[in-house]
Amino acid sequence: MNKTHFSWVKTIVVTLALSEAALIFIGLQFIPYGRGHNDPPVKAEPEWDSPKTREFFSRACGDCHSNETVWPWYGYIAPISWFLQYDIDKSRNSFNVSEWGRKKSNSDDVAEAVRGGSMPPTRYTILHPSARLSASEKQAFIQGLVATFGSKHESERKGEQDND
Ligand code: HEC
Repeated sequence: MNKTHFSWVKTIVVTLALSEAALIFIGLQFIPYGRGHNDPPVKAEPEWDSPKTREFFSRACGDCHSNETVWPWYGYIAPISWFLQYDIDKSRNSFNVSEWGRKKSNSDDVAEAVRGGSMPPTRYTILHPSARLSASEKQAFIQGLVATFGSKHESERKGEQDND
């Protein structure tokens, strides 16, 4: 095969591969999962100890743990939209401040999740810098969460006292 011939074949193969990828990408957009961005109505909220705590929560946690998600533009593009939908369904299922009473399992873990640094997840704060809390904001937020939801340490301590 001479050189010119080879580069023609290469161009055709690359073009075919790219158009196929483009077609697949377009095809993905027609899959309904993750496209609806379903935000059910807010039914009941916890009794926040202060508006400040609620504000911190909506800034750092609300996109995942409430029904008031602000969906980013890339959340409309498959397959990213699928990951977002999956993540948000899972978050709302574990703990949802818009359906308080129904989804409040382990609410005494809330302050702990922030204190320990597992929440908000890094994958979120990378894309949402405004969700990052300074050390003093974090301290104030943790106090607010303990006042609103209680604390695991406290209930453990209470448990110990009950045993006396
Ligand atoms: C990017 C989405 C996202 C954000 C933002 C986020 N979380 Fe989560 N959170 C999750 C997911 C997903 C889970 C479920 C983890 C699992 O099941 O493995 C979870 C689990 C939890 C749990 C455990 C619930 C239980 O059943 O015990 C708590 C508590 C929690 N998050 C608190 C917070 C708090 C407080 C914030 C804000 C500081 C926050 N999360 C921000 C996604 C998020």
